[in-house]
Amino acid sequence: MICRLDTHWRSLTVWVGVFGLAGIALLGSLRQEAHGQGEASKPLPKLYFGSQACATAGCHEKGQVANPPLLCRGDEWDRFKAHDRHGDAYKALTGELGIAILKRLNFGDPQKAKACLACHSVNIEKDAIKHETFQIGEGVGCVVCHGAHEKWVGAHSLVLSRAAFRILSRDKKETEYGMTDLWDPAKRTALCASCHIGNHAEGKFVTHEMYAAGHPILPGFEVATFSEQMPRHWQLIREKLPEVQKIQGHSASEWEESQLLLVGSAVTLRESMRLLAKQAESASLKGEMLDWALLDCISCHHDLRLPSWRQEQARLGKPGRVPPKNWPTTLALLAGEWAQTREALGPLKSELFAATQARPFGDPQKVALAANRMADWADRVAKELSGKPLNPTIGPKLGAQLLKMGLNPSPDFDSARQIGWALTLYRAEEMALLGVKRPQWDSFLGEAKTRLALKLPFGRSGSPAERNKEILAQQYAFDPENFFRWMQNAPKVWKD
Ligand code: HEC
Ligand code: HEC
Ligand code: HEC
Ligand code: HEC
Repeated sequence: MICRLDTHWRSLTVWVGVFGLAGIALLGSLRQEAHGQGEASKPLPKLYFGSQACATAGCHEKGQVANPPLLCRGDEWDRFKAHDRHGDAYKALTGELGIAILKRLNFGDPQKAKACLACHSVNIEKDAIKHETFQIGEGVGCVVCHGAHEKWVGAHSLVLSRAAFRILSRDKKETEYGMTDLWDPAKRTALCASCHIGNHAEGKFVTHEMYAAGHPILPGFEVATFSEQMPRHWQLIREKLPEVQKIQGHSASEWEESQLLLVGSAVTLRESMRLLAKQAESASLKGEMLDWALLDCISCHHDLRLPSWRQEQARLGKPGRVPPKNWPTTLALLAGEWAQTREALGPLKSELFAATQARPFGDPQKVALAANRMADWADRVAKELSGKPLNPTIGPKLGAQLLKMGLNPSPDFDSARQIGWALTLYRAEEMALLGVKRPQWDSFLGEAKTRLALKLPFGRSGSPAERNKEILAQQYAFDPENFFRWMQNAPKVWKD
């Protein structure tokens, strides 16, 4: 398939081939809507294309030089194919470990294992919404993230419509054409979190049974780091040309990563709490206990040792009862401060903690209540932060706050890792503004990367399962006091 800018007619024929007559009808509707006469928004019909449909020279393969410039570099497929594990997500189910897990769970054929496909590819209920280019083996393909709708895929690629489509606002592209606005930090995080944390409504949940059958431990999630380490196949706002920034409604002075970090951490907390609340409600209705995958894994799975710092910590709750996962609240605390919310997160955390201690393995009804409250808090914080431009000094201030946070003993490895991931977003040049010298920052970050295993499996040769073997040892060995003592030697960038 060819869709080069200079081969209009050939490409039109090709794309009409791909999209059928709907492509032609679409041209008419695009002209209308570009003039603001669009119809009131109805739910758009779904259509799942395969990634191959986007991997075309002149589209998202091999890069392009166009005048006026396009919104993207045109080599996204090359980057994706070379490095992005999402392209291997289905293969994970048919590899040695995947087959072993499926067998232990008695799930049989991976193509029919809906509970796995929800995250490792996509569950498509009706053949009618499967485009002929769709292949399950492509894993998490382009449209799973960018929007599975024919309307935008056609409009942005057909030669006759794409110039008009390109200059539409992000909002119009989303509401009228179904192209998900992944520039919006809250929307991006909700999408990633649906698979990297879980989503009850979408049938995405790694149960304790799946873990016990061998599924790697999901490692906690921080959207800015995960976006960077996918690795990112897009340009950051500051890397784009001014005319492109303007079309997309960005300003070059935005602190993109800081905003993503803060809004993202609030949305991450919201999504974790929604998953917990929904699972707890369902357990409560069925008279079952909470699925153990929702509680803090290491609290049950650590070795017995003497002396034990856990015995000190247990004074907070009932000795021997399992707490909730702590990591989702780590960075959300900062988001709350920046949003200047009147309601503090602390009491909500205590309420959830108490609900998990109320009886062995938690009281599902109380857990659901507390988790819903925390989800609402996080939702308000995310909205508050999304609505206002960030103070231009946010970057350095946030860096200093993060370093200071490390001085409070983190209760577990995953929580400490959240702070570590956030710090990797700071470049030496930015820390220089705070008076931290480059070698000092580089050596601190270098050690943080090792201590907290901050690098995700890179590229399609790495494997989360392999990586997690190493991380497990670190999770077990983590000692909050030890981490705290090490953080005290971090570069000092604040005055007290
Ligand atoms: C909620 C989403 C979700 C569900 C449901 C899920 N997985 Fe996963 N799976 C993931 C994520 C995310 C990773 C990467 C883990 C990481 O980052 O460490 C992963 C990793 C894996 C890996 C390791 C891949 C590698 O390259 O090393 C295997 C194998 C796997 N999953 C199999 C399964 C099977 C089999 C099922 C169904 C029983 C399943 N998964 C259900 C999200 C999910
Ligand atoms: C796991 C989710 C995910 C998958 C899968 C994915 N993308 Fe993206 N993509 C993103 C995010 C996030 C962005 C950044 C925000 C945006 O541009 O909307 C992005 C940006 C882009 C951009 C804009 C580039 C720029 O510089 O602004 C293009 C083009 C693109 N993706 C194409 C593709 C293609 C082609 C595929 C399949 C081969 C694909 N994407 C698969 C998440 C994804
Ligand atoms: C439809 C489910 C799904 C969505 C949506 C999704 N991911 Fe993933 N992601 C996965 C699975 C499954 C894997 C593991 C694939 C493998 O290794 O086989 C993965 C792997 C990754 C990895 C590789 C390292 C690791 O720890 O596994 C990164 C980084 C990542 N995803 C980031 C993102 C980001 C950022 C977004 C949102 C823009 C996102 N993902 C959206 C399912 C998803
Ligand atoms: C309430 C306590 C509890 C919590 C919380 C818990 N588990 Fe388990 N887990 C158990 C018990 C009990 C078994 C069964 C004992 C066995 O097989 O050795 C088990 C078995 C396992 C196994 C298989 C046995 C093994 O050692 O390999 C894995 C893997 C596992 N859990 C992972 C996890 C992960 C990952 C989490 C968090 C997402 C988690 N567990 C949370 C209690 C718990």
